[in-house]
Amino acid sequence: MNSSQSSQLYSGLSKEKLPSHVAIIMDGNGRWAKKRLMNRINGHEKGADAVRAIIETSREIGISNLTLYAFSTENWQRPRAEVEALMSLLIKFLKSEQKNMMENSIRLSMIGQIERLPEKVQTLVQSIMDLTKDNNGLRLNLALSYGSRAEIVRMVRMLAEKAKKGLIDPISITENMVADNLYTRDIPDPDLLIRTSGEMRISNFLLWQIAYSEIYVTDTLWPDFGKDEFIGILKEYQKRDRRFGKVNT
Ligand code: FPP
Repeated sequence: MNSSQSSQLYSGLSKEKLPSHVAIIMDGNGRWAKKRLMNRINGHEKGADAVRAIIETSREIGISNLTLYAFSTENWQRPRAEVEALMSLLIKFLKSEQKNMMENSIRLSMIGQIERLPEKVQTLVQSIMDLTKDNNGLRLNLALSYGSRAEIVRMVRMLAEKAKKGLIDPISITENMVADNLYTRDIPDPDLLIRTSGEMRISNFLLWQIAYSEIYVTDTLWPDFGKDEFIGILKEYQKRDRRFGKVNT
């Protein structure tokens, strides 16, 4: 894209009011494939292209944190062939994006049960997180084997363990201490949560963190989600009046 095209695309978008963290529930790959009489895996492959486009747009416009729900704790219950295809796709995606991440100062991070991922995925994710750890552009945060309830249980266990050892007093547990024991401890809460494919649910995603997020649901299936629609949603977000439970004076 040349600069005049990009300024046209981004016109009306205020740099000052950009969300610092956008989280996305990428849904609808299966339906996208079904509509085309293709198999679900083809839908996921096309979905990976949409992931690339959204990363590029986020980087270009200067969003600091992008969290993508790529694989949930519940997704392990899908047919084995689909789980394996998703893992292979993830490997292919990460290998192909490594160079782009270094060239564009993208930092990779992940939230979720890394220990449950196949060894090959674990090693690759860890090596790219290490490689990109000093990059200070977009932080790309992949939710892999992620479930918010499992994350909350893990946090409760961590705090209970500290209390058992006498390191903390249960009565002094604060919201900040809870947040500090979640996977997202060093990432701000999402300002904007987007869900594709029209479903009006949260699906066990960032339950604690989205307390005050603006939510936007689009009917577009994830493989069809692209830059123009993303920019449109960001513009809509900028029109919203965020009050965080207070009143505007
Ligand atoms: C939901 O579609 C999508 C997923 C379960 C996985 C998301 C994966 C990708 C977007 C592709 C790979 C990701 C990366 C980071 C390379 P669905 O299968 O639930 O669709 P459906 O609800 O229409 O069946």
